[in-house]
Amino acid sequence: MCSWFFLVLFSFTRTGLVKPCRLLSPLPVVQISERPLVHQESLLKLPVPPLQQTCVRYLASLEPLISEEEMTHTHKLMDEFLRPGGVGERLQKSLERRARKTENWLTDWWMQSSYLDSRMPVAMYTSPGVVLPKMHLQDRQGQMRFAAKLIAGVLDFKSMIDSDTLPVEYLGGKPLCMDQYYRVLSSCRIPGPKRDTVVNYAIGKTPPTHITVVHNFQFFVLDVYNSDGSPLTVDQLYVQLEKIWNSSLQTNKEPVGILTSNHRNTWGKAYNNLIKDKTNKESVRAIQKSIFTVCLDAPKPRVSDEMYFNKVAAQMLHGGGSRWNSGNRWFDKTLQFIIGEDGSCGLTYEHAPAEGPPIVFLVDHVVDYMKRSEMVRTPMIPLSMPQKLRFNITPEIKKDIEKAKQNMNIMVHDLDVRVLNFTHYGRKFPKSHKMSPDAFIQMAFQLAYYRMYQTCCPTYESTSLRMFKLGRTEAIRSTTTESLQFTKAMDDPSKHKAALLEKAIKVHRKHTHMAIHGQGIERHMLGLKMIAIEDLTSLPEIFMDTSFAVASHFNLYTSQVGSKTDCVMCLGPMVPDGYGICYNPMDDHINFAVTAFNSCEETNATKLSQFLEDSLLDMKTLLEQVSKTQ
Ligand SMILES: *[C@@H]1O[C@H](CO)[C@@H](O)[C@H](O)[C@H]1NC(C)=O
Ligand SMILES: *[C@@H]1O[C@H](CO)[C@@H](O)[C@H](O)[C@H]1NC(C)=O
Ligand SMILES: *[C@@H]1O[C@H](CO)[C@@H](O)[C@H](O)[C@H]1NC(C)=O
Repeated sequence: MCSWFFLVLFSFTRTGLVKPCRLLSPLPVVQISERPLVHQESLLKLPVPPLQQTCVRYLASLEPLISEEEMTHTHKLMDEFLRPGGVGERLQKSLERRARKTENWLTDWWMQSSYLDSRMPVAMYTSPGVVLPKMHLQDRQGQMRFAAKLIAGVLDFKSMIDSDTLPVEYLGGKPLCMDQYYRVLSSCRIPGPKRDTVVNYAIGKTPPTHITVVHNFQFFVLDVYNSDGSPLTVDQLYVQLEKIWNSSLQTNKEPVGILTSNHRNTWGKAYNNLIKDKTNKESVRAIQKSIFTVCLDAPKPRVSDEMYFNKVAAQMLHGGGSRWNSGNRWFDKTLQFIIGEDGSCGLTYEHAPAEGPPIVFLVDHVVDYMKRSEMVRTPMIPLSMPQKLRFNITPEIKKDIEKAKQNMNIMVHDLDVRVLNFTHYGRKFPKSHKMSPDAFIQMAFQLAYYRMYQTCCPTYESTSLRMFKLGRTEAIRSTTTESLQFTKAMDDPSKHKAALLEKAIKVHRKHTHMAIHGQGIERHMLGLKMIAIEDLTSLPEIFMDTSFAVASHFNLYTSQVGSKTDCVMCLGPMVPDGYGICYNPMDDHINFAVTAFNSCEETNATKLSQFLEDSLLDMKTLLEQVSKTQ
């Protein structure tokens, strides 16, 4: 067995073995970077918030969402939970013990419960897509030239990772954990019959020197370093890409990659079947081990300018179905750049190892790199032909591929994706009124939803815990008593709307501040639940309460992913009757991507986008009227 495997096994459990629990099978094996990042040592450990504080805030967060009757019941359960010497105290002590013994009490639980245990397909359900501005590519030479530059840009980024010279990011003057940056290259998710794993090949004895390129469903190994260790130049990469293109002209190949889009149990079974064959196993390993993947996509059917970004967002999320580019992917791969012959470009990433911010930081770096003038031409040393990866397709594998195709096509038909470029103003406007752009936009979501449904819903906004060592995300519950008061007042002429908006924004700011400082509600509740699963024979009633389920059914699942590049990330909804909304507030416009399932009659991404646009405009008018009268 190779050495990376052992590193994987011991990484998260280094600082205290997590004991197997009764209700769940043992922890997944997850790898962390072992690189000696000096500043990592100075990062704080994620705290466990005070029990009383979380419980009080939890009850307050339920208020706008549940009936009085349910509230009375939940209060009773909470009194019991918090009884001196009761279950709550016991779990809290146990959680604090875990926090002392581990580097981060939350991260491996988080990875396990949100990603590796999840049996839903990664495509659309957890893997975000990122849409980059349209490139004006004339033809396939343009596509390959662009791909060559992009690869060179990523390798330039990788050189900062390899030399540990990546600049440390700061938030509010505090350094952030950079660990995620070390997980996005040379890593891959591996399906398991019950639970997946993530493997990072960067820290083994022989880190990979190749990427995989996929064109017409055929995978190639492209070595991106010369024998002296220098990265291939753009010109060299171009020639290699052309060779790949020329030897994958036929489109009649089996789209093996589409297997990775299936439900994880189904894919887990198909995977074991696929790698029984030695050639297949080697091919799969070459993809998994590669630094990243580049998907050279076939052109999509032409659409109107208005529909263009919706189609590209769908291409980044799922590839458009088995007839188009869904088979031109390996969805388990952490990082896949996608470049279409028609100039569409972007990427998709498997979410388990990292969040959006490191990904868009990488994108910003690559885009900057590509803007620099053409690289110097290098003398042409003949390079060998990139190796085509072979797959032996048995009738059984063929059947699995057919099933995966069917499943993917159903999913593709079910997802509605709307990209909205809100051009009336950007983040400068709320700033000019001394309001946080993020809180302002969140209140616009609240207003849009309320106007469409005459009620509010549980809203999830992800935020960063990277101020802490190995921190991932916390959630802010954006629907508050104050936000509901504002949305109700907005269409009532007798109310002081601006004051209510200001108040709602203030509350949201406070919740955000607490969340990023490790004092959020969501992950603490998860921690108490997880420790109960480990320590107790039954779950405390507070976690089996209707209110708990109702308030965790996030109809609005939102995430701000800001970047310098004019791009937008997109995500599928978290629940069948919900929306996924990502947004990137630029100075003078805001990019939104809204998704919903067509199979749900209550949701409509286009309609919500229209309400959102109107809400943002009305909120601007409101603030301007107030400033005029002051
Ligand atoms: C690829 O094929 C085209 C058209 O046949 C040819 O002009 C070009 O030289 C080939 N490129 C490589 C690198 O083989
Ligand atoms: C959005 O609109 C602005 C203003 O018209 C434009 O500058 C920007 O390029 C657009 N962005 C996208 C992603 O379409
Ligand atoms: C969604 O909303 C739009 C705009 O309001 C409307 O034109 C469209 O028909 C709706 N779609 C469905 C399936 O109801």
